[in-house]
This record gives sequence, C-alpha cells and structure tokens, in this order.
Amino acid sequence: MPNAFDLSDDRAYRSWRARKLDQDPPLSEQLAVEIRRLSEPSQAERAALRERVAAYNVALVRVRPEDVTPEAILALGRALGLTRTDDNLFADDRAVSRIAAAPQLPRGREPAPANRADFIPYTNKPLRWHTDGYYNAPEDQVLAWTLFCARPAREGGVNSLLDPEVAYIRLRDATDSHIAALAHPEALRIPPNWQHGRLIRPDSVGPVFSIRDGYLHMRYSARARNVIWRSSAETTAARDALTQLFSVGDAFTLTHRLAAGEGFITNNVLHSRTGFSDGDTVASQRLLYRVRYRERIR
Ligand SMILES: [Fe+2]
Repeated sequence: MPNAFDLSDDRAYRSWRARKLDQDPPLSEQLAVEIRRLSEPSQAERAALRERVAAYNVALVRVRPEDVTPEAILALGRALGLTRTDDNLFADDRAVSRIAAAPQLPRGREPAPANRADFIPYTNKPLRWHTDGYYNAPEDQVLAWTLFCARPAREGGVNSLLDPEVAYIRLRDATDSHIAALAHPEALRIPPNWQHGRLIRPDSVGPVFSIRDGYLHMRYSARARNVIWRSSAETTAARDALTQLFSVGDAFTLTHRLAAGEGFITNNVLHSRTGFSDGDTVASQRLLYRVRYRERIR
C-alpha cells in the first residue's frame, strides 16, 4: 500500500506533497465558515468546516459573539464527532479551559494544585510555537482542539498557525534524516512537572512526528527550557531546521487575530501567540475558551 510517510516510498510522498502544495496558502477569508447557531451547525455548515479541515487541518468559525459559550463550543465539537475531551490542568469539569491573563493569586488560592499565572498560556506574554499537549503521554496525545474568542484583548494576542503536514514537507524536502530523527521514539523528552512539591504530571518521552491511523501527528514545543531533545547530531539538525522554519516564516502560515465570535477548529496544528495587553474594563480583557480532544476531526 502506498504510504506518503514512509521514507522508502518516495512516489507516494511526491504525489501527496504535490496535492498539499497545489493548494493556495491559507487565508482567513477562505477558511472562514459562518455558523448560524454554534451549538447546532447545519449539515451544509458542517460540510464546509470539514472541507477546510481536510485541506488545511484548520477552519475559522464565525458566529454571533453572544453564541460563544462553553456549552455551545462543546456541542459544536460533538457535531463534528469530537467526544473524547482531554482533561488538562486548569480545565473545568467539562474540560473547557478559560484562556485569559490570570492575576497572581497567593499560593493555595486556586482550586488546582498550581497557580495559573505561573504558566505562560495564562499570562499576557507571547507563546512560542507548539502543538497542544506535547507534555501528554504518547498514548494520550491531543489530536484536535477548538479555541473560541469571547473577548479580544485591547491590543495584541495575534495567533499564527502552521499545518504540521507543511512543516513535515519542508523538513523532508531538506533531508530524510530530519524526519528519521524526529520520528525517533525518544526524540523529545518533557521533564515531570513539580509544583510546590506536588507532581502535576510525570515526564513525557516520545517522537515529534508520528503516524496515527494513517495521519501525521506532531508533538512539538519551541521552548528552550523544560524540554530535552535527544542528544544526536541528526536531532539537533532537525530541531534547528524547525527553528529556522519558524523564524523565516512559511508561505502557508496563517496569521489571524481572533475577534469576538471567532474560533479555530483544528487537528492540533502548530501555533504561536503574540503578547497582548488588556484594558481596564472587563470588556477589553482577553477571554478565549479552549477544548482539547484525543481524536481528530474527520
Ligand atoms: Fe496551544
């Protein structure tokens, strides 16, 4: 059977690659799908979302801002076949996370055993390129997520997104050894997370590129601290190639600042965020809702 991700099957790779790159680079307007009721997308709206996700692994949803509620976001996920949520630190009991700049609370005031403000996603600082849940165990990887904007910041908070399939192509076009190095089962290790003497999660060791049910999955963080790359010349070269890709920028990068009522649905594409500043009133303080899933959008 042809397999585009098999390094010895160049023919399958070439034809898959050509289909992928024949598409126009993603633009917000092309990826956008207006949904009349977020909790009950029509068949045509679902088809439009699936079409964009099939092409780019991401779609941009537009709804009325008042429609952005955790319940409606979860219902949209279910309408797309997403039911296995990833329950992560700071998510509520429905696995919905509020992404906002958290105040520095005194220790022990959070219901979770850690302070939100100690984690960059819950601050107004920029977020480096990553895929979600890279610190999860290899068998518990996040394969999709949705991210909806209830309120944008006063200024900043711009997301950039890149389809991991495109990142794979750029690296494989440079040299097969980048792919082999990043597919190694010990390519990337995330040390355990201890907070104030409590183990929040154990260490996570696994590949950057893996194939799951025939689809490419990427596990990646560009952060410099608290990540341990496999010690080999090939791994270092592959890691540098990714760093280079993000610093130069790729034509297939989508840059978009979510407005109120907008959201991404994605098969866990690579993404980053610029820093932001909130206003003094609640209305100008950034609030996003995120849900992670252990399955892909099909
Ligand atoms: Fe993220």
